[in-house]
Amino acid sequence: MTRDEPLVLGIETSCDETGVGIVRGTTLLADAVASSVEEHARFGGVVPEVASRAHLEAMVPTIQRACDTAGVALADVDAIAVTHGPGLAGALLVGVASAKALALSLGKPIYGVNHLAAHVAVDQLEHGPLPEPCLALLVSGGHSSLLRVTDITGHAGGVAPMGATIDDAAGEAFDKVARLLGLPFPGGPHIDRVAREGDKIAIDFPRGLTGRRDLERHRFDFSFSGLKTAVARWVEARERAGEPVPVADVAASFQEAVCDVLVRKALDAASAEGIEDLMIGGGVAANSRLRALAEERAGKLGIRVRVPRPGLCTDNGAMVAALGATMVARGRAPSPLDLPADSSLPVTEVLAG
Ligand code: KG4
Ligand code: ZN
Repeated sequence: MTRDEPLVLGIETSCDETGVGIVRGTTLLADAVASSVEEHARFGGVVPEVASRAHLEAMVPTIQRACDTAGVALADVDAIAVTHGPGLAGALLVGVASAKALALSLGKPIYGVNHLAAHVAVDQLEHGPLPEPCLALLVSGGHSSLLRVTDITGHAGGVAPMGATIDDAAGEAFDKVARLLGLPFPGGPHIDRVAREGDKIAIDFPRGLTGRRDLERHRFDFSFSGLKTAVARWVEARERAGEPVPVADVAASFQEAVCDVLVRKALDAASAEGIEDLMIGGGVAANSRLRALAEERAGKLGIRVRVPRPGLCTDNGAMVAALGATMVARGRAPSPLDLPADSSLPVTEVLAG
């Protein structure tokens, strides 16, 4: 770390985590996160109004905590980065308004960045500069995509989608299946934990969009809705027969079906493009089986795998700061102070112009 690398504060509020991260270049100095997940748990999903209110309450203390941890004063910061989409509109607004207030009062530039690209950029904090090109498998609660990344700042089509889910996102499938197995929200981490005690080949659940005809049209796309229905039918049949549901086996077999398809398609895309580096990002990248399976299969093909540590995979402010610092380092023009919150921002639009 050198003193002349940019010191960037990043703000993340797209869902239920209020994240404030501080980085210098690619060095992580602070990653403060306040989550409102417990307030949503009894509803079985994130309630937008509750999330917005929680962001408002958590924002100032979380900024303070990040500055204290990093040992920096706000006046030392060179730029402010903020998630301006995609995500929950009201939640995004709190982050964007906070970032504007900071930028204006400190007289510093603001960078409105894309949440999805930030899930990819965060890996630089752990493994150094991102290899470009790389193939990014982005798997979160709201998105599942395969991206060809030639420039993570999005310059000249630098983040290009090769495929995406045609129905549920991978994280959404984890959350829905967890719910029907009686596990708490958000379900991903619970399925991951319970699956360790189960048999992953106990039940042969379907692998979406992997049949010969599907591959013709949807080679790099995903579908998890059929899998979710198959799990529901299987569990219902057990219950109807009055037999106990082997929760660990169902969790392990479901998780195997999701991870198998994700890894298979990501490696197929990397091979098709002649790309030797696979990056996995987003909340589902915290999944232990996904990480292990990707390592195992990629190794055989000579493809390197980069996955940030689990705490950096789920939503946080450090990922936003990391992408902001890349923007500054590459001389990208800051965003205008009237930048909007955009709940349906496409992945290709990495920086608000
Ligand atoms: O990226 P993220 O924190 O928020 C969004 O941008 O959506 O992702 C949240 C998703 C949730 O669906 C959650 O269940 C899932 O990531 N998740 C996991 C694990 N940890 C979080 N899924 C599977 N295994 C995990 N260990
Ligand atoms: Zn996310």
